Amino acid sequence: MPDGTWNTRATRIQMRIDELASITDEPGVITRTFLSPGMLQVNKMVAEWMQDAGLTVSEDSVGNVLGEPPGNTDLPIFLLGSHLDTVRNAGRFDGILGVVLGIEVVDYLRTCGVSLPFSLGVAGFSDEEGVRFQNAYIGSKAFCGLITPRDLTMRDRKGVTLRQVLERWKEGRFVIPKARYTRERVAGFLEVHMEQGPVLEHEGLALGVVTAIAGQSRMRLTWMGKASHAGTTPAALRQDALVGAAAFVLGVQEAMVKFPGLVATVGQIFVEPNVSNVVPSRSIHSLDVRHQDDSARNQACTWLEARAREIARERQLQFEWETLQVTNAKKCDATLSRRLTDAMESVTGSTWQLPSGAGHDTVILSRLFPVAMLLVRCRHGLSHHPDEFVALADIAAALEVTVEFLSSWEPA
Ligand code: HGY
Ligand code: MN
Ligand code: MN
Repeated sequence: MPDGTWNTRATRIQMRIDELASITDEPGVITRTFLSPGMLQVNKMVAEWMQDAGLTVSEDSVGNVLGEPPGNTDLPIFLLGSHLDTVRNAGRFDGILGVVLGIEVVDYLRTCGVSLPFSLGVAGFSDEEGVRFQNAYIGSKAFCGLITPRDLTMRDRKGVTLRQVLERWKEGRFVIPKARYTRERVAGFLEVHMEQGPVLEHEGLALGVVTAIAGQSRMRLTWMGKASHAGTTPAALRQDALVGAAAFVLGVQEAMVKFPGLVATVGQIFVEPNVSNVVPSRSIHSLDVRHQDDSARNQACTWLEARAREIARERQLQFEWETLQVTNAKKCDATLSRRLTDAMESVTGSTWQLPSGAGHDTVILSRLFPVAMLLVRCRHGLSHHPDEFVALADIAAALEVTVEFLSSWEPA
């Protein structure tokens, strides 16, 4: 394949990424959350591109946009894809790169008439970040038949349940979906994703193959004190809910020293009544805890909860610790990862394997199918930030390696 083609196709990937970046629910920044107007607009655009690549397109009951092989085929399917939702004030590559690149791969292999031992499909998952319900992977969980009745009772910030959101959107009863594919029908799932970290840039490499994806625990902590006058309540008589949360946040920093390899974040906080001249009566915040080793993560969570209860006692605060979601660390499939490493070596001349600290839909797909991940270098390792950047040459390399990975498939 002449070099030009890879750059030409990588340029179309970049243009499409830029087009999707212009669609947002928050003017001036990139924000698209579960089933938002922006997400539905993105689905329409991605569906057109999937159609142009020769795929049969549908949108499932939770807003995943699926490009699947046309007509009936007895061949197993190999799935590509990632997520289309974003965090707030996001960059343009997180998730999007894997969907748009997957469509380009399908279009290229179809155009070249390459015959494969499987058909190809592309999935654009509707909610990987979990911004709306503090609960990640709604899209890929539905795709794998893993949504539970309890999931449907989750409430967003306005108190609307997931079931209500789904039924309003589809104007009808929501029926929990079964898995789209059984294990036997799927040859594998490959997610191409920006690294979201600094390792590949540091090593001077465009790509890396993921060995395992870190486990994560997501919690909501609520501190309850007593509102009182900011001007007349002396320190000793305060039950300040925000000070309790603040003392805990410093404890989170301590936990990252105490448990090597742990990353823990309080990213979101709400204060009530949230006015400048009232001592806060209640504060509610998130807690995101991750580690490559599940027992270390669980020990850290136990330590953090004990620390929180100690702070609440000392400051005469009521306290609630709610675990919203636990996802264990997941190894990628050894055979697929070896094939991917071989493809990377034959295209780029180098190989690199690394764990992923970020969570991905691949974690969910791995519960049913063999999975692999290809990470793409990003500038300064920056992600979940508007300055996210992946170079065109690295997109071209990821495209070429993915095509090599699929087209050099020898029966195992
Ligand atoms: O939070 C994560 O790890 C991913 O970006 N959803
Ligand atoms: Mn993300
Ligand atoms: Mn992502």
